[in-house]
Amino acid sequence: MPEPEGGQRRRLLPLLGGNHGGRSTMTCKYRCADACFHPAPNTSDNEYFGDMVNKAMSRRGLLRSGAVAALVVGSGAGTALTAAAAPVRTSSSAAGPKPPTPTFPDLPERGRPVGFQAVGDNTVDSIVVPNGYDWSVTAAWGDPILDGAPEFDFENQSVEAQQQQFGYNCDFVAILPLDRHFERALMWVNHEYTNEELMFRGWAGPENATDEQLLIVQAAHGGSVVEIERVDDTGEWRPVPRRRRYNRRIHTGTEFRLVGPAAGSDLLKTSADRTGTKVKGMLNNCAGGTTPWGTILTAEENFNQYFGATAAITDPETVQRLSRYGIRTEAGTDRGWERADSRFDLATEPNEANRFGWIIEVDPYDPDSTPRKLTTLGRLKHEGASIAIAEDGRAVAYMGDDERFDYVYKFVSKNTYRPGDSKRDRDHNLRLLEEGDLYVAKFAGNSPEFPADAPADGLFDGTGEWIPLIEDGESKVEGWSVEDVLIFTRLAADQVGPTKMDRPEDVEPNPVTGTVYIALTNNSARTPEQRDEANPRAANKFGHVIGLDEDRGDAAALSFTWKIVLIAGDPEDPETYFDGFDKSQVSQVSCPDNVAFDPAGRLWISTDGMPGASGVADGLFVMPVEGDDTGHLRRFASVPRGAECSGPFITPDGRSATIAVQHPGEGSGASPDNPLSTFPYGDQPRPSVVTVWRKSPTGGPFIGD
Ligand code: FEO
Ligand code: CA
Ligand code: CA
Repeated sequence: MPEPEGGQRRRLLPLLGGNHGGRSTMTCKYRCADACFHPAPNTSDNEYFGDMVNKAMSRRGLLRSGAVAALVVGSGAGTALTAAAAPVRTSSSAAGPKPPTPTFPDLPERGRPVGFQAVGDNTVDSIVVPNGYDWSVTAAWGDPILDGAPEFDFENQSVEAQQQQFGYNCDFVAILPLDRHFERALMWVNHEYTNEELMFRGWAGPENATDEQLLIVQAAHGGSVVEIERVDDTGEWRPVPRRRRYNRRIHTGTEFRLVGPAAGSDLLKTSADRTGTKVKGMLNNCAGGTTPWGTILTAEENFNQYFGATAAITDPETVQRLSRYGIRTEAGTDRGWERADSRFDLATEPNEANRFGWIIEVDPYDPDSTPRKLTTLGRLKHEGASIAIAEDGRAVAYMGDDERFDYVYKFVSKNTYRPGDSKRDRDHNLRLLEEGDLYVAKFAGNSPEFPADAPADGLFDGTGEWIPLIEDGESKVEGWSVEDVLIFTRLAADQVGPTKMDRPEDVEPNPVTGTVYIALTNNSARTPEQRDEANPRAANKFGHVIGLDEDRGDAAALSFTWKIVLIAGDPEDPETYFDGFDKSQVSQVSCPDNVAFDPAGRLWISTDGMPGASGVADGLFVMPVEGDDTGHLRRFASVPRGAECSGPFITPDGRSATIAVQHPGEGSGASPDNPLSTFPYGDQPRPSVVTVWRKSPTGGPFIGD
């Protein structure tokens, strides 16, 4: 086991931790505009499930939609929002070449135990992996991506260079094949947000920034497509050095198209776009997913922080709509974009913020395609979107809205997925997410007299239902039009009584077992009275994971059963739970954020906020969900100082795990003159994508063995 190297702290080390989870105050400021320091935006009167149980209401009755409707208490937003019916716009980009489908003769069996020795708690300013594994940097902030792009020069950055270089704070990572052996591939990476204090020496706030700096920041957001190839016969990936047909940088200046039922709505029109269908840029893209037809889904999360008002907004309905998304209606934001560019000033462009907060579909196989913002999937602080195919072939997208006390959603397409390889099939599939139904989840516990310190039946589990918001092209929210439901989805969902969750992050179906895993990262604001069986911990600092099984195993089902499989934290804490596994054998884990699965169906979890007081590094963990090793969670890798671990992508051949090292060196008081981290190249910290692979095939060639 690679023992953590102690005593590496440099003098005057900036402070880690101290906030919710283990997040630094600097991360809170730049990542989500200090969301946890403001009241939770969900002020709806939706009851916590425990309240309802205490009222001795029939649980079965609650599951009937009529009873649910009877429980709805208006938030005040239910005043009939009227808007003209929007035209349905289903145009898609031209499809690129059909991606090949790799086949692998040897894959690990279901229920396979973990086999490596866990990486211990540490504060090492590097990647730490188990014995027998190796790692390398696949891409880092500033790496030239496009042909002719200049090499990175920290002291001499420019907009033109950044638009051609790998962007800042990498998050979601996906790797799609370019050949049948998975030796050559396309890597997609989200660039979620920027940290100007670490990007520029002497940064003194947006009011003192140069125009060039503000535009560099915009160019550093977005996403990248990077052609990669395996190194020799290992699992290592490296960028293809030349003849890169697919490489692409998407940034705040890139044109996007709004598609689906809300496209063209008056609520999406601005002075620069009278059609309500064309948007420049995507913002705060956090996690995402891939589709079976070879596209990327990327999720706009904390978009609220980029919009401000140079004059206070006072119209009550507008204030309510903005506040539910955490958008400030009084003058001033930390980023200051509204002062530099009027399109981010809600006093000038009241609808511009409505054009962000979407799931976006990108076709990485067509570098000239226009990315599409899918209004069908609703407007939230989207964490990500992951696809399952229902029994009848419809595509189902699972989604989390990452905010304290917000909800879990799913979308079910109207039309069915075509698995064929023809261009016609791919064109059809590229429109699948532009029409369909939208639901929000309600969880019911099955233990009586909850809230309680422990469930009477020994498990935090129960049943649930998907409550319709849109079905058969019609709004199911009384008094709300389709476009209002899709553009103000949080407010619409408030009307139908879903369960308030502890910050839903990734919601992903396990492709091997079919169980859908929901990472609930933390919610320190939940009071003891607000506990319910699906969110059973008050002041939930360390988060938990729910496994959800759709009825009949059909992703399109409208009811489900669920069970908490992980209550994170220090295993010595009696509140923690590792799916029944012996807690003396598991690793400490906190703030589950992103999840992924390997070919054996094992659950991989990356963390954002290990306990900050001890400065323990975030990392990547794996936990079997079947067989004798179920619940045996082990830390597989840790990331450098100040970083969170995100992205994880396990290639379908099981040979490598690729992670995003997001915001290395982020900590209160850190700056280019006083860096907290020097990862990866020994100078200024650079957000990076890292691949981990087995050095030798002893005990099996698969990652996690
Ligand atoms: Fe960007 Fe919900 O994490
Ligand atoms: Ca129970
Ligand atoms: Ca995340």
